[in-house]
Amino acid sequence: MHTFQRITTDLMEMNPFEKIGKDWMLVTAGNEEKANTMTASWGALGQMWGHDAAFIVIRQSRFTKEFIDRENMFSLSFPKENYRNVMKFLGTVSGRNENKIAGARVNIGYYNGVPYIDEAELIFICRVMSATKIKPEEFIDKGIDTSWYKDKDYHTLYIAEITDMLAR
Ligand SMILES: Cc1cc2nc3c(=O)[nH]c(=O)nc-3n(C[C@H](O)[C@H](O)[C@H](O)COP(=O)(O)O)c2cc1C
Repeated sequence: MHTFQRITTDLMEMNPFEKIGKDWMLVTAGNEEKANTMTASWGALGQMWGHDAAFIVIRQSRFTKEFIDRENMFSLSFPKENYRNVMKFLGTVSGRNENKIAGARVNIGYYNGVPYIDEAELIFICRVMSATKIKPEEFIDKGIDTSWYKDKDYHTLYIAEITDMLAR
């Protein structure tokens, strides 16, 4: 297990476009008995309702979603580039069908009971503040529905307070 230190945003140098969109992140949720993780490359970081906040979108079909909805807590883990293949695997296989955490050979650590991926360099612990199902009638740009939701597997938008930022 690695040692992490709490950091604050003023110490952080990160480009969210790169970090989320290009490098990707792992969304992990659950408890000490069972946790699940999945790769995500859509989302945002900023401010909401007086808090540092993370915005993530999770499709209805994801097994990880069940854990987020049950615990109302999740983590975002940002591993280094050499975990690219692991992230592809965790973003393709579902934990509903196999023990993908063992398959990916990553370890789960816990911070105040919230699971994270121990191999990450940077971790955000997040508390869900709102969960909003995206509905097709809300798209102003109607092309989004046909481009991204042919299978009607709509996202839920989670807006979460980042309660702790941990760096190795
Ligand atoms: C690069 C990449 C980015 C992804 N981004 C998201 C995302 O932002 N939201 C989402 O719902 N699924 C996303 N996925 C798909 C999930 O990671 C994938 O369906 C995963 O197998 C779900 O696992 P689970 O069923 O164990 O939760 C992404 C996959 C990859 C490879």
